[in-house]
Amino acid sequence: MKALILAGGKGTRLRPLTYAMAKQLVPVANKPILHYAMDGLYQGGIRDFGIIISPETGEAIKKSLQSWKKDDAELTFILQDEPAGLAHAVKIAKPYLQDDDFIMYLGDNLINADLGSHIAEFQQAKYEASILLRQVPNPSSFGVAELDGSGQVIRLVEKPKEPKSDLALVGVYLFTKQIFDAIDRIQPSWRGELEITDAIQRLIEDKAVVHSRVHTGWWLDTGKKDDLLAANNVVLGEYMNYLIEGDVDNASRLSGDVHVDEGAVIRNSTIQGPVMIGRNCRLENVTIGPFTSVGDDCTLRDCHIENSVLLEECHIESVPGRIEESLLGKGCRIIKSPTSQESHKFLLADHSEIQVL
Ligand code: TTP
Repeated sequence: MKALILAGGKGTRLRPLTYAMAKQLVPVANKPILHYAMDGLYQGGIRDFGIIISPETGEAIKKSLQSWKKDDAELTFILQDEPAGLAHAVKIAKPYLQDDDFIMYLGDNLINADLGSHIAEFQQAKYEASILLRQVPNPSSFGVAELDGSGQVIRLVEKPKEPKSDLALVGVYLFTKQIFDAIDRIQPSWRGELEITDAIQRLIEDKAVVHSRVHTGWWLDTGKKDDLLAANNVVLGEYMNYLIEGDVDNASRLSGDVHVDEGAVIRNSTIQGPVMIGRNCRLENVTIGPFTSVGDDCTLRDCHIENSVLLEECHIESVPGRIEESLLGKGCRIIKSPTSQESHKFLLADHSEIQVL
């Protein structure tokens, strides 16, 4: 059993962050999203990983996975020239996948599923495909599955106006080599992509056994800013433990699950967990948390931040009011204007968003 992890794509919904980085490398609780996917698959028994990369962000993905590498895991990178769809990614991975069964995993999804038992069931039952589903309150926004009484999929519909079920396709799929033949017989959709839902629908029409499993734990698609903040909240809430490796003075008050990484210095501050403070950060006179991740090498002074994700090297100083529900890319600066009390001054990249009072 191999894994095919999709870490290409455009990431348009997470701009401007994705002008500078791959969306799969955006951190949740200071760890790249993609590393959670790799961990979940590795724990599920996978040792042979194929990773779809794009020309724009492929080198960064390769570099990031050097820090993940396990001695017994083999990583093969597969370049997809353009993001022509999930089924297109499978198609170009054929020389790597050959005749093996594989688990396909969308590299921007976070899921707390036991992939090992999903894989074992698939192999024992000899299904042609198996998909993971999750009940959602808004099925019209997703690919939706209709099932028969035994959990077999009878129809897949992409973003239905009148959904027949509330079971959305989660970004984890198991396939045999039969999927290649199905992909060869589909056409690009209205958005110009080869859709994996169309290929699975083709399998169903061919009377193949397409099984489903309903996942009841959390599943987080990190495609947009609010999804990413929600993912950060869940992961911080679930995995963060109180751990102080940095230097915290007596004037500071820390409560709840707070992780202060090595080399971080905290002075006269209040931190309400769950919060993650990265390596070599400097915090003075600040109130942080709950639900906030601060990347490595950030400097924060005289400010209040909650429910936010800051990437590395951010500098925030003397900002009145509270910063919340914010996502800041690497090296962002928010400082009080030294010259004027009455005007705001901005230097923003394309598609940046600011909400002012
Ligand atoms: P999507 O979120 O569907 O697509 P996207 O990354 O282009 O994002 P956006 O809609 O914001 O522009 O992709 C799901 C995952 O699959 C994600 O990790 C990117 C990856 N992917 C590929 O590797 N190749 C592709 O051709 C596509 C469409 C996605």
